[in-house]
Amino acid sequence: MSRYWSEKVRNLSPYTPGEQPKIEGLVKLNTNENPYGPSPRALKAMQEQATSGLCLYPDPECLELKEAIGRYYDQPASRVFVGNGSDEVLAHAFQALLQQRRPILCPDISYSFYPVYCRLYDVDCIQIPLGDNFEIQLGKYARENGGILFANPNAPTGRCLELGQIDSLLRGNRNSVVIVDEAYIDFGGESAVALVDDYDNLLVVQTLSKSRALAGLRVGFALGREELVEGLERVKNSFNSYPLDKFAIAGGAASMADHNYFEETCEKIVATRERLSTGLGVRGFEVLPSLANFVFARHRHHDAVALSQALRQKNILVRHFLQPRIDQYLRISVGTDDQCRMLLQALDTIVG
Ligand SMILES: Cc1ncc(COP(=O)(O)O)c(C=O)c1O
Repeated sequence: MSRYWSEKVRNLSPYTPGEQPKIEGLVKLNTNENPYGPSPRALKAMQEQATSGLCLYPDPECLELKEAIGRYYDQPASRVFVGNGSDEVLAHAFQALLQQRRPILCPDISYSFYPVYCRLYDVDCIQIPLGDNFEIQLGKYARENGGILFANPNAPTGRCLELGQIDSLLRGNRNSVVIVDEAYIDFGGESAVALVDDYDNLLVVQTLSKSRALAGLRVGFALGREELVEGLERVKNSFNSYPLDKFAIAGGAASMADHNYFEETCEKIVATRERLSTGLGVRGFEVLPSLANFVFARHRHHDAVALSQALRQKNILVRHFLQPRIDQYLRISVGTDDQCRMLLQALDTIVG
C-alpha cells in the first residue's frame, strides 16, 4: 500500500491467475491450456512476420484477423472485435456496454475475473445462484438489469447451456446487452454466434487461448452487431490503438483458417475428457458433466486441498478454488492421454 495510490487502486482486489511454475517434467493441468500446440500454419505465419518489418506498427484495425474470424463464422468483419486475449475484450465490454444505471446479472459461481472487472469499472452486480447441479438457471435472469454476463460452458463447472435456452433468454431480455463468454465452446457446445443475426443486444466473446492453443499469443474476439462492436472500438481506441501485434494478427488469422488441425485437436481433447471423467469416477470422484477442456470433480472421501497438495508433490498441478460450495472440488484441465494417465496413476497411490 502506498500513500500515492488512488482511492480506486486501494480498493481493487486483482485477479489471481493460475500458477505458471517453471518445473522440469511438470504435468500442468491447472490453467486449461491446450497440450497440442497451435496449428503449424499459424506458426509459419508468425515466423514470416519476423521478417516483415517489425519497425512498423501493426494494422490498428487488425483487418486480416477480423476477416479470418468473420469467414469462420460466416459473418462480416464489421461484426468482429479483437483484443489482447478475451480478458481484454471482456474488460472493454464492461466499460462500453455494462456500465449502466442498473446492476448486471452474473452467475454466483463463474469466471472469477468478472467481479474484478465489476470493481475496476464500478459496475454493480447481482449474483444469481447456480442450481443444485451447478447449472446456470437462466429463468432467474428475467428481471430488470443493466446487462447479463455468463460463461458458456461455465467456468469452473464445465456445464453448458443449450442454444435454445440462450435464445429464450434473449427473447425476454430486449433492453440490455447479453454477453456470452464462450472461452470453452469449441469442446462440444453450440455457439450463440448463430443468434447474432436475430438479436442486436447479443455479444459473443471467444478466445484463441484454449481450442486453438494460443494462450501465449493473447488473442480474443467478440462477435456482435455493428453498433456493439463500434462501442468496443471506441473504448479500445481511447486506451491502446495497437493491442494486437503483427504476430498475433497473422498467427491468429492462420489459426482460424486451419479447420483440419482445429477439429482434429478438439476431437482428441473431447475423447480424452471422456476417458478422464470415467477414470475419475472409478476412483471415487463425482464428476460434473463437462463440455469444456477441463473437468470439475470432487472426491467422496478425500479433502480437495489435501488432494491438490498431494498431487503437487508428485509434480502434477490442478486448480482449486477457496470459494463456498465449490471448495471440495478440483478443476482438472484435459491434457494429453499420457498426462491424464499420469494423473490417474498418481491418484491411485493417493486415494488407494
Ligand atoms: C471463462 C473464461 N473467459 C475468458 C478467459 C480469458 O481467456 P484469454 O484472456 O486467454 O483469452 C478465460 C481464461 O481462462 C476463461 O476461463
